[in-house]
Amino acid sequence: MPTPAMREAISNAKLGDDVFGEDPTTKRLEKMAAERMGKEAAMLVVSGTMGNLVCILTHCKRAEEVILGDRSHTFLYEAGGMSALGGIHPHTIVNQPDGKMRLEEIEGAIRSDNVHFPRTRLICLENTHNRCSGAALPVEYMKAVAELATNHDLMVHLDGARIFNAAVALKVDVKELACYADSVTFCLSKGLSAPVGSVICGSKEFIAEARRNRKVLGGGMRQCGIIAAAGITALEEMVDRIAEDHSNAQRLANGIACILGLSVEPERVQTNIVYFDIVSRQIKAEEIVSQLGNKGIKILRLGPSRFRAVTHYGINAEDIDFTLTALGEIMEL
Ligand SMILES: Cc1ncc(COP(=O)(O)O)c(C=O)c1O
Repeated sequence: MPTPAMREAISNAKLGDDVFGEDPTTKRLEKMAAERMGKEAAMLVVSGTMGNLVCILTHCKRAEEVILGDRSHTFLYEAGGMSALGGIHPHTIVNQPDGKMRLEEIEGAIRSDNVHFPRTRLICLENTHNRCSGAALPVEYMKAVAELATNHDLMVHLDGARIFNAAVALKVDVKELACYADSVTFCLSKGLSAPVGSVICGSKEFIAEARRNRKVLGGGMRQCGIIAAAGITALEEMVDRIAEDHSNAQRLANGIACILGLSVEPERVQTNIVYFDIVSRQIKAEEIVSQLGNKGIKILRLGPSRFRAVTHYGINAEDIDFTLTALGEIMEL
């Protein structure tokens, strides 16, 4: 949910028509975002999904191939956009539990020059890695993938929907991660709490071309300073507090580990995402979600026995304890 400062920024935002490049607030956000990521330019988009798609469409032509993780958000949850709209071929590599793809497997997936094959063009990384316990991919790994890409004349796109969570967890500047990617998408609307919006960053030429692709997708927005205003507040005020979400997630995981009938790996929790499972057959996952829902606690069910809980602005340590008590009571029934 947006903070009171965001709501105020939205109501005071100076506006213009961004399709004509006249929205001062959007321009300001884009400049700030580019500086934060250490890139030349940036562009506001509606969502993380649109950001990734616009970047992939900008890097690749039809029948070119993208190497990405089999548990990546882009492969699993973005409605097959790259193939549906771009004629671009996804080539998946296994994501290890820590979110990495093995370098030798990435290298093995790169196509040789042969008329039978699609042409490999792009490697996509995700940091933090949503489906892999919110893992933060370390700087050395990002660097190694970038080197591999350069050696094979490939581009790297970073789905950094939660890149600030990664930077905070790794105690590095976000630029130290972003510098290994040719393009980056990050979300204002996740851990940074803005109501809507993501930003893509890259070189000036890349963003100019991406602007055309955003337009193709119907993503040109008129007075989007309304959205950008909250994004500016997000970048100014919401990055440093992310550490609190990480410690709340750790508290939640440690507590869940003590509840009979539930299983969790607290040592895998590095950021704001906690996956856990039911191991007892006495209770159905739907039942747990609905009973927690009755107490105002929202968690996501993923499959018959798995859940995802996310900590964020507006949730404090007491809320975590309240959740743990509620979960303990449900599992005792
Ligand atoms: C890693 C990752 N990338 C991209 C997205 C897409 O973001 P959006 O929901 O804004 O389209 C998500 C959404 O959860 C995500 O977790």
